[in-house]
Amino acid sequence: MSERRAVVTGAGSGIGLAIARELLSRGYSLLACSRFDHELDALAGALARGRVDRFARDLATQEGVSDLLATVDRLESPPDLLVNCAGLGAWGEHLAIDDARTRATIAVNVAALTAITTHVVRAMVGRGSGRVLQVASTAAFQPVPMFATYAATKHYVRAFSDALRDELDGTGVTITVLYPGPTKTAFIDAARFPIEGAAGSVGWIAKQTLLDPADVAKKGVDAALRGDRGVVVGPLNQLQRALSKVLPDTATRAIWKALRGRM
Ligand SMILES: NC(=O)c1ccc[n+]([C@@H]2O[C@H](COP(=O)([O-])OP(=O)(O)OC[C@H]3O[C@@H](n4cnc5c(N)ncnc54)[C@H](OP(=O)(O)O)[C@@H]3O)[C@@H](O)[C@H]2O)c1
Repeated sequence: MSERRAVVTGAGSGIGLAIARELLSRGYSLLACSRFDHELDALAGALARGRVDRFARDLATQEGVSDLLATVDRLESPPDLLVNCAGLGAWGEHLAIDDARTRATIAVNVAALTAITTHVVRAMVGRGSGRVLQVASTAAFQPVPMFATYAATKHYVRAFSDALRDELDGTGVTITVLYPGPTKTAFIDAARFPIEGAAGSVGWIAKQTLLDPADVAKKGVDAALRGDRGVVVGPLNQLQRALSKVLPDTATRAIWKALRGRM
């Protein structure tokens, strides 16, 4: 049997790096994608053993995405697993956020994810098998004031992936959505997500419940390989998901408004 191969975006840091390591430990070889080549040095041991091909481009650009698709086409066969983990966001009043940052958030979280998924899934369907893992967020379950664009992009990831999954019934290809809550990665600082600044009990809970990227990665990979529809990581996040299913929109928005005042 030939070696199993995965394509992982965002593989140079955080959850994507943890997913890359998890897959290497399970015997996969990787096309590891990152914005900057040096970030992939984090996979040094596996790079040295020839189990990782590096791909470094900006996925906020059309050229970066096209180059990735062309690189995937040059693989011996379609990947067994695609992981869309590259993503970014910016916390703050929407009108005060730099427009370039908002554009990049939509370009990577929505446009690149859609183009990569579409291209790779077509090839997987042609072969009759494949798994896709989309990294969304618990921000996909309700609007999040102060995280307006980011949360909206993660709603998109959820809606697009769930619908495509249903269209793919019977093809041998499955799509799984991973919903982490706040996780200890560079994202927290880059997005200026106010974990450190959060006040009182909100701050305490936020710090206590920060997820470990290795744990998020393991749960995501397990779910994707089983072909599950989705996985919410962490008990508080599972509670948040359950509440978002039963509470009316007005109540979840009121809760976020109250939390926002403490962050
Ligand atoms: N950490 C959290 O609290 C949390 C919670 C829920 C969901 N998530 C999601 O988890 C995913 C991974 O985030 P993370 O927490 O692991 O943070 P991270 O360490 O910042 O990882 C994000 C990855 O996406 C890459 N990326 C960003 N912009 C890119 C671009 N223009 N072109 C190519 N790659 C780009 C980053 O590369 P650079 O390092 O070069 O920027 C990095 O490898 C994201 O989709 C995020 O939305 C994170």
